[in-house]
Parts: sequence; C-alpha cells; structure tokens
Amino acid sequence: MDFSNFNFLSLFLFVIFFVNVLSSQDNAQILNNDQASLLSFMSGIRNDPGYALKSWNSSSVHVCNWSGVRCNTNRDRVVELILSGKSLRGTISPAISNLSFLAILDLSGNFFEGHIPTDLGYLFHLKQLSLSSNLLEGKFLLNWAILDNYRSNQLTGEIPVPLLCNGSSSLEYVDLSNNSLSGLIPLSNECELRELRFLLLWSNKIVGHVPQALSNYSKLKWIDLESNFLSGELPNEVVSKMPQLQYLYLSYNNFISHDGNTNLKPFFASLSNSSNLQELELAGNNISGDLPSIIGDLSINLVQIHLDDNLICGFIPPQISNLVNLTLLNLSSNLLNGSISPELCRLKKLERLYLSNNSLSGEIPSAFGNVPHLGLLDLSKNKLSGSIPDSFANLSQLRRLLLHENQLSGTIPPSLGKCINLEILDLSHNQLSGLIPSEVAGLESLKLYLNLSSNYLKGPIPLELSKMDMVLAIDLSSNHLSDTIPSQIGSCIALEHLNLSRNVLEGPLPISIGRLPYLKDLDVSFNQLTGEIPQSLQGSSTLKQLNFSFNNFKGNVSNKEAFSSLSIDSFLGNPGLCGSIEGMRICKKKRIYRLVIWLVVISLFTILVLCMFGYSLALKSKFNKQFSIFTEENGETDRKEELNHPRVSHRELIEATGGFSSSSLIGSGRFGHVYKGVLQDNTRIAVKVLNLNDSRTSPTEISSSFNRECQVLKRTRHRNLVRIITICSKPDFKALVFPLMPNGSLENHLYPRHGLRNHGLDLVQLVSICSDVAEGMAYLHHHSPVKVVHCDLKPSNILLDEGMTALVTDFGIARLVKGGDHENVSSTHDDSASFTSTDGLLCGSLGYIAPGTLLINFKQYFTCSN
Ligand SMILES: *[C@@H]1O[C@H](CO)[C@@H](O)[C@H](O)[C@H]1NC(C)=O
Ligand SMILES: *[C@@H]1O[C@H](CO)[C@@H](O)[C@H](O)[C@H]1NC(C)=O
Ligand SMILES: *[C@@H]1O[C@H](CO)[C@@H](O)[C@H](O)[C@H]1NC(C)=O
Ligand SMILES: *[C@@H]1O[C@H](CO)[C@@H](O)[C@H](O)[C@H]1NC(C)=O
Ligand SMILES: *[C@@H]1O[C@H](CO)[C@@H](O)[C@H](O)[C@H]1NC(C)=O
Ligand SMILES: *[C@@H]1O[C@H](CO)[C@@H](O)[C@H](O)[C@H]1NC(C)=O
Ligand SMILES: *[C@@H]1O[C@H](CO)[C@@H](O)[C@H](O)[C@H]1NC(C)=O
Ligand SMILES: *[C@@H]1O[C@H](CO)[C@@H](O)[C@H](O)[C@H]1NC(C)=O
Ligand SMILES: *[C@@H]1O[C@H](CO)[C@@H](O)[C@H](O)[C@H]1NC(C)=O
Ligand SMILES: *[C@@H]1O[C@H](CO)[C@@H](O)[C@H](O)[C@H]1NC(C)=O
Ligand SMILES: *[C@@H]1O[C@H](CO)[C@@H](O)[C@H](O)[C@H]1NC(C)=O
Repeated sequence: MDFSNFNFLSLFLFVIFFVNVLSSQDNAQILNNDQASLLSFMSGIRNDPGYALKSWNSSSVHVCNWSGVRCNTNRDRVVELILSGKSLRGTISPAISNLSFLAILDLSGNFFEGHIPTDLGYLFHLKQLSLSSNLLEGKFLLNWAILDNYRSNQLTGEIPVPLLCNGSSSLEYVDLSNNSLSGLIPLSNECELRELRFLLLWSNKIVGHVPQALSNYSKLKWIDLESNFLSGELPNEVVSKMPQLQYLYLSYNNFISHDGNTNLKPFFASLSNSSNLQELELAGNNISGDLPSIIGDLSINLVQIHLDDNLICGFIPPQISNLVNLTLLNLSSNLLNGSISPELCRLKKLERLYLSNNSLSGEIPSAFGNVPHLGLLDLSKNKLSGSIPDSFANLSQLRRLLLHENQLSGTIPPSLGKCINLEILDLSHNQLSGLIPSEVAGLESLKLYLNLSSNYLKGPIPLELSKMDMVLAIDLSSNHLSDTIPSQIGSCIALEHLNLSRNVLEGPLPISIGRLPYLKDLDVSFNQLTGEIPQSLQGSSTLKQLNFSFNNFKGNVSNKEAFSSLSIDSFLGNPGLCGSIEGMRICKKKRIYRLVIWLVVISLFTILVLCMFGYSLALKSKFNKQFSIFTEENGETDRKEELNHPRVSHRELIEATGGFSSSSLIGSGRFGHVYKGVLQDNTRIAVKVLNLNDSRTSPTEISSSFNRECQVLKRTRHRNLVRIITICSKPDFKALVFPLMPNGSLENHLYPRHGLRNHGLDLVQLVSICSDVAEGMAYLHHHSPVKVVHCDLKPSNILLDEGMTALVTDFGIARLVKGGDHENVSSTHDDSASFTSTDGLLCGSLGYIAPGTLLINFKQYFTCSN
C-alpha cells in the first residue's frame, strides 16, 4: 500500500518533471530562433563604432541580456529591440521579421541604408516602429497591381504597402522620418491600423495626396508630414475625423486650399472639432485665400500657429484673439493687408509675433504694451505708418523689436530705453527724425545689433552709446548725424561691425576705434571726416573691410598690415591721401626726411629721460595713492548677469569629465580643482570646480570670489586672457568652464615633473610668452571696461594654447579697482578706512607677492598694533 502509493507519486512527479523539461526545451528552441534572427540582423551591420553590440558577441551573455534587447516575462521571446542613436552602419536584415513577438523596433538615429524590409509587415505584435533619421531609401508603392509590373525587374528598394498594412493592427507609433523614402504614403483603404496614434513621416521625398485611408484612424494624435512633396487640397476630410489631434504639421509641401487655391474656410472649419489641437503648421506651401474668421473657432488649446511663407491675403481677422493660449503666431511672408487690429493684443500669452513681409498698413496699436510676455515682435517689411508707440516701455521681456522697412515717422520714443532686456533693435529704413535719444543709446542690454540706418535722424552720436559693451553691430548709416565721432565708442568692446557712412560727421576718426579688439568691418564713407587715418586701424589684427572713401582724410597711407588687402576703392574721394595702396597717389619725399630722423632721435631721448623721472615720481607716490576698492554690487544684479551666460548643466559637466574622475583632474588650487573634459559638441574644456566645502575658505568668500571672477571674465576679452565658455552655478556647486589649453601651464614647462627636462622652450618662445603676458596685463590695467589688478600672476596661472600663445588665467583673487579716469577718487577716506575692506588678507600667493603689497600690509599691521 505504502509502496504502491510511493510509486504512484514518483510517477506523477516524473511526468511533471518531464513535461517541464520538454516545454522548457521548446522555449529554448524558440528563443534560439530569435537569437539566430538577431545574429543575422547583426551580420547586416558593417560598423559598430560604439561597441553597442559587444554583448551580442559574448557566448556567456544570455540573449535576453543583450544590450538593446528585451524579452517577455517568461524570457522565451524577444519583444523589444531598441538601438537608437548608436551610429550603427549597414542594412536592416529581413531576418528581423522572424522576431514575431516584437512589439517595439527602434533603430532611429543610425546610419542604416538601403530599403526597409517589407516583411516587417508580418510582425503582428508590433506597436512601435521607429526608423527615423537613417539613410533609408526606397519607394512606397500603393498596390500589388503596380507592384506586379515592377516585380520582374528592379524590385529592390521599393516598399509595397504591406509594410504597414498587412501586419499588426495594433501599430500605434510609426516614425520613418528623416530618410530618403519616396513614393506615396504607404496606406490604402484596406489597411487596418485602428490603434495608430502617431504618424511621423517628415523630411522624406514622399509625393501624392494625403490618403483618404487616414481618416479611418480616428485615434491619431500627431500627424507630421512636414518637408515632403505632398500635393493636393488641404486634407480637410481627413482631419475632421480626428477629435484627438494634438499636432498637425503640414509645412513645406505643395498643398493648396479649396476651390482652386482660393478658399481656406473648409480646412479651418474641419479642424473645429479637434479640441485638443495645440500646434498647427502650414508654412511654406503656396496656400492662398483670405484668412477666414473661423480661425477663431479653433481649439482654445492652440499654442502655436505657423502660416508663414504662403500666399494668404485679406486682413487679419480680429476673431483670432479668441485663441487665448496662443504663444506663437507666425503670419510672415504672406499677402496680408489692412491694419493690425488692436484685438490681437488681447492674446495675453503671446510671446512671439511675426507679421513681417506683408502689406499691413495703418499704425502700430499701442495696445501691444498690454501683452506682458511679448519677447519678439517682428512687424518689419510692411507699410505701417505713424509713430512708434510709447507703450513698448511696458514690455519688460521684449528681446527683439524689428520694425524696419516701414513708413514710420516721428521721433524714436526715449521710453524704449526702459525695455531693459532688448537684444536687437532694428528701426532702419523708416522716416524717423529727431535726435537719437540718450536713453535708447544707453541700452546696455543690447547684445546683437542696433540698426537705425536710413532714417532722417540728426544731431550728434550720443555718448551713451559707449555703454553698449556687448553689442556686435551698430549701423547708423544714411542719416543726418553731425558733429564728431565720440572716442568713447571704443568702449563698445564686443563690436564687430560699425557703419557710420552717409552722414555729415566731421573731425578726426578716434584712435580708440582701431583698438576695438573684435572689429571686423568699419565704414565711414560719405562723411566730412578730416585728419589722418589713425595708425591703430592699420595695426588691428581683426579688421577685414574698411571704407574711408569720400571724406577729407589726408596723410600717408601704406599698404601694410590691416590695409594690405584693401584696394583704392576704400580710399576714393579723399584728395589729401597718398601712399602705397595700388592706384593711390605716391607721396612726395622731402628733404625734411633727415630732419625727421633727428627729431625722432631727440624726442626718444627726451621721452627716456622723462620716463625715468616719471618712474621715480611714481614710486614715491605709490604708497600715498588712494585705491577705491570696487565693492560687490548686491547679489541680485549678479544673479541677473549670470543668466546671460549660456548654461551647461551640472549633469553635462559630470558626463564631460567622467564624473569628475581623478583621471580628468589636471590641477588644483586654493579655491578648488580643475578637470579636463569633452562636451557633447566635442569642445574640449577645462572645468574649474570651486571647493565649497573647504573649511579654510568660507562659502561667502567662495561665492564672492566666484561672482567676481565671472564679472571680470565676462567683461574682458583679449587674445592673451583666458576666455570663459560658460558658468555653472548651483547653490552647492559652482564651476567655470574654459577652453582646454592643450599645452598646459607655463609652470609645467619651466619646472617639468618626472625629471623630464627640456620641454622645448627656447629663448624666442620665452620672450614671446613674456610679451603675451604683458599684453594681457596691459589690457587688464588700461583697456578692459573694468580695471583689474590681477594680484596673483605666476607661471601656473599662465596657460599655453596649441600655438604656444600665452593666456593669463585665474582672476579668482583679482581685485577690481574702480577706474580713476572718470570717477574722482574720494579723498575723504583716510588710508586705514580704505584698506579695512581688504581685511588684511595678503593679496596673492606667497613667493609671488609684489613687495609693495607686502609693505602695505606691514604698514597696516603696525597701524593696528598701535
Ligand atoms: C563580433 O565578432 C565578430 C568575429 O569575432 C566580429 O567580426 C564582429 O565585428 C563582432 N561584432 C560586434 C558587433 O562586436
Ligand atoms: C541577466 O542579467 C542579470 C543581471 O544583470 C542576471 O541576474 C541574470 O541572471 C542574467 N540572465 C541571464 C539569463 O543570463
Ligand atoms: C526566418 O524564417 C523563415 C521561415 O520560417 C526561414 O526560412 C528563414 O531562414 C528565417 N530566417 C532567419 C534569418 O532565421
Ligand atoms: C536627420 O538625419 C540626419 C542623419 O541622416 C541627422 O544628422 C540629422 O540630425 C537628422 N535631423 C533631425 C532633425 O533629427
Ligand atoms: C495584404 O493585405 C491585403 C489587403 O488586406 C491583401 O489583399 C493581401 O493579400 C495581403 N497580402 C499578404 C501577403 O498577406
Ligand atoms: C476606411 O474608410 C473608407 C472611406 O473613407 C472606407 O471605404 C473603408 O472601408 C474604411 N476602411 C476600413 C478598414 O474601415
Ligand atoms: C510657389 O509659387 C512660386 C511662384 O508662384 C513658385 O516659384 C514656387 O515654386 C511655389 N512653391 C511651391 C512650394 O509650390
Ligand atoms: C463637429 O461636431 C459636431 C457635433 O458633434 C457636428 O455636428 C459637426 O458636424 C462636426 N464638425 C465637423 C467638421 O466634423
Ligand atoms: C488654455 O486656456 C484655458 C483658459 O484660459 C485653460 O483652462 C487651459 O488650461 C489652457 N490650455 C493650455 C494648453 O494651456
Ligand atoms: C516665421 O516665418 C518666417 C518667414 O517664413 C521665418 O523666417 C521664421 O523662421 C518663422 N519663425 C518661426 C519661429 O517659425
Ligand atoms: C486688401 O487686398 C484686397 C485684395 O486682395 C483688396 O480688395 C482690399 O481692398 C485690400 N484692403 C486694404 C485695406 O487695402
């Protein structure tokens, strides 16, 4: 009894065990098939630069653990293959269609070429098909009949409909964008894709109409067919069946409107039930017809409308102001006329409004002042008249104001000076008159350009212009500006393009213009300027284009340095000029030549004597001189200024430096460590991470050091000063990002480690390094917008770039000294008062401190002890 019972039980267990073994063997067999399919997919890949498929080659790794592969919970079928952005090169093997349980196939952002295997159509479980941004090509054919004709000959590369049509009816996401696929959209009426929600085919070469079949897929949320060659009437019947639609992108095709490209109404009407629509893009077709007032019936959730670059006519319907969530409206480059309705200004969330290049007339509504978030207003190239409204002053977030090429008259409102975030101001080609208001000329925020050319502006160039120390281009040409060119314009240190031509400016050209460190072109033609052309222009290393013609310049011009590439065209109409420029009158040599040499020798001698005299005087007065220490402005403005830098996130820095690994460490100093790294765009950088936790330095000291360094670096740009790329500032993390200097610091060359001798610094290089450093320091002391005393100049703070040019770095302990030029230094403070702010800190590193500093500190020490 017991015995038989036992037998029965063991038999039972054995059967269960056997069945289990059998079924797991079955599973293993199926999985083996999947593995074989994956391996033959891998064999189609020629190049795997990132070793993305390394694990696929290792026999010890299970298929389900291969990178990019995921199995179902039983671990017996492959259900996901995700290899996006791996830079894989090759073809997509048809074997992949044997992975019959695949639900997600994502090979986007690689370099797969050739055609899409049609058999993908047999993946009945596929939900997501992403093959975008590859080099795939081939032609979609619509039906088997056509295919039969092709079948005999050049079938390769042509993709018949079954790709999407015969397979999974559960397909939700199809993205074949950014390839070179041609032919028709591969959907016909028989296709059942009831679950399709996302259809992305942008940037291909697809032709034909939007297929009627799409209207069967009423769950569609995103349709992106942008940048193809689609034609026909706008697909109103298709979109009217799509209540879920969120994004509809049809830009850059050849669509037309109804009734022979005259009627936009049916299309806009068909969208009225799509209450989730957020973005509508129809730009760059040749759509014509009046903008219908039913545009106001579109979804209240609309955030962006792009209708630019079409042939849309009529006036802008005031009903558009119903779309209260709109942040961007682009109607540029159409044929719109009539005036701009003040109703438009009821769009309170509007951030960017483009109406340029139409035929809009009438005045600019002053109600624009009530659109609080307006950051960009482009009304250029219309027929707007009247004056510029005062109300722009309310727009504190306005960054770009483009009103050029209209018929605006009156004066420039001084209130524009209140737009403290303005980066671009273009009022050129209007009929503006009067003076340039000093408030507008003093817009320090202007970063990109100021264009007031081709108006009727008169009076002098305002001195306040010198406050624009970030502006890249200033164009004041073709006005009636008079008086002399202020030399203060030399303070616009970022200036690259300066055009003052066709005014009535007189007097000499200021020397300071030639010292602008980034100036590329300068046009002062057609004025009444006199005197000699300043030597500083000739010496500029950045100037490429110059025009001095039709003035009254005189003197000798040589074809050297910056002038070597100039022709006579740049000097025409100046009868007083002579010299070695080709085509120019040759200067008469005179007997005075010798006399001049004598004069030079004598004056050099005098200067030498004077210098020695002056130097001893300076030494004497050095300790009596009052320094007024630059006090930190309140943190508020500092923070605001930090925002002007492009930001690199903490995470990006971590990635770039391998998590600040010790192998990236290239140096450390009093305030922190320096790491090298590579940003995603391949910029090689050095990251100076400030040590916030160091007990020796208080966080406020760090913080003020950081802010100070940023302030100095931001305003000073010079060939021999290390440029800042960006800063990264979090409460607990502060870092400065510099370009990596491949040749390290001067210290490494002077005192090489590991007993390495002779780093190849010869005398010529040493002299050149000295001269570079001197130039950098001279700039800091005399020409930078904020006078800076470095305080810690030593070999480890001198870096060498690939051409062995020396660049000075580390202003972390620099003191900013208010320039004595303009401010009259207060003499009411006594010595001790002005020095207490330094808190008796030694300024600089021991061993490199200037003796004078030491003396001052000793002096203070004695005063205190008394
Ligand atoms: C896998 O191994 C084969 C042979 O060892 C090699 O040719 C192929 O490049 C490897 N593939 C990958 C993706 O590492
Ligand atoms: C896959 O990897 C995980 C850990 O990453 C491991 O626990 C598991 O055993 C592996 N599975 C197979 C089948 O190799
Ligand atoms: C895919 O399956 C078909 C039929 O089952 C078979 O003939 C073919 O060899 C398989 N391909 C691969 C790469 O496994
Ligand atoms: C389109 O694909 C190319 C590679 O073929 C890629 O370089 C580019 O970034 C892609 N464009 C977009 C917008 O993704
Ligand atoms: C693909 O689908 C169409 C329409 O449903 C059908 O006529 C055709 O026979 C199918 N082709 C294959 C190979 O299944
Ligand atoms: C798709 O819609 C068309 C009409 O637009 C209809 O004729 C066809 O039967 C529909 N197909 C399916 C599969 O529902
Ligand atoms: C639009 O029309 C212009 C001229 O009528 C033509 O040159 C241009 O190619 C057309 N553009 C498109 C996208 O059809
Ligand atoms: C929108 O929906 C209403 C009510 O459901 C319906 O009467 C109307 O025909 C629909 N409009 C369009 C364009 O489909
Ligand atoms: C649009 O505006 C309405 C009311 O003004 C608001 O309730 C809704 O959330 C907004 N929608 C979006 C997408 O911002
Ligand atoms: C607005 O339209 C103009 C003209 O087509 C175009 O140049 C500009 O890039 C567009 N702006 C945006 C944000 O779409
Ligand atoms: C706008 O243009 C249309 C023709 O496209 C014309 O009939 C209408 O009078 C114009 N309106 C104005 C205000 O110029």
